[in-house]
Amino acid sequence: MPKNKISKNWINKQRRDLYVRMSKKEGYRSRAVFKLKEIDEKYKIFKNGISLIDLGAAPGSWSQYAAKKIKNGKILSIDTQHIEQIENTFQIVGDFTDTSYQNKIKNYFKNKVDVILSDMAANTTGNKYVDSISTGELCISAIEFSREILNSKGIFVSKIFMGAAFNDIVKEAKSTFKEIRIYKPQASRKESKESFIICKNIL
Ligand SMILES: C[S@@+](CC[C@H](N)C(=O)[O-])C[C@H]1O[C@@H](n2cnc3c(N)ncnc32)[C@H](O)[C@@H]1O
Repeated sequence: MPKNKISKNWINKQRRDLYVRMSKKEGYRSRAVFKLKEIDEKYKIFKNGISLIDLGAAPGSWSQYAAKKIKNGKILSIDTQHIEQIENTFQIVGDFTDTSYQNKIKNYFKNKVDVILSDMAANTTGNKYVDSISTGELCISAIEFSREILNSKGIFVSKIFMGAAFNDIVKEAKSTFKEIRIYKPQASRKESKESFIICKNIL
């Protein structure tokens, strides 16, 4: 299909999409917020006073939602892309997998954190196999980072793609956390292989 036809299809799909309309109405920067909302309703992630890291946060709807739900907490959002300021959150522009940025995160919190969210997705190449591996690698580095900075009773939530990297992600999660769940929210497009892994309690 020609490239401009693909983008026209995408624009039409966005216009029809209920979650896109709802996100605009409610002032969120992305429809992705409704996936997090469903995850939160099911797994009770947010509480007042908690500290939270949002990995791959741009354009910022997850951080907007976290900032609304958490009173008197500490929220850090990081992305390789610029994130417009969100009240009561601290933003870093940088590659999360780079240890210098991981050190910046550790320095910001000083102590362990309660929740790590990752909606990180690698740039798509058009090859689903390659894309699933690259996004899987991001999830695995987020799990490795959790071992260093997440409270023993902390919660880890990450986007995954049901594909080539799935077994490696589950293996890494099982060697790090006591409880692991896989959940696909309604707001995650049916045709997408996207799902989420929710982990609790560091081993
Ligand atoms: C699906 S978007 C996140 C949407 C976001 N949760 C929201 O609600 O607005 C995925 C993001 O992951 C970011 N990303 C990918 N690799 C990254 C990395 N290594 N470090 C930081 N961010 C990364 C991308 O720049 C992109 O903005």
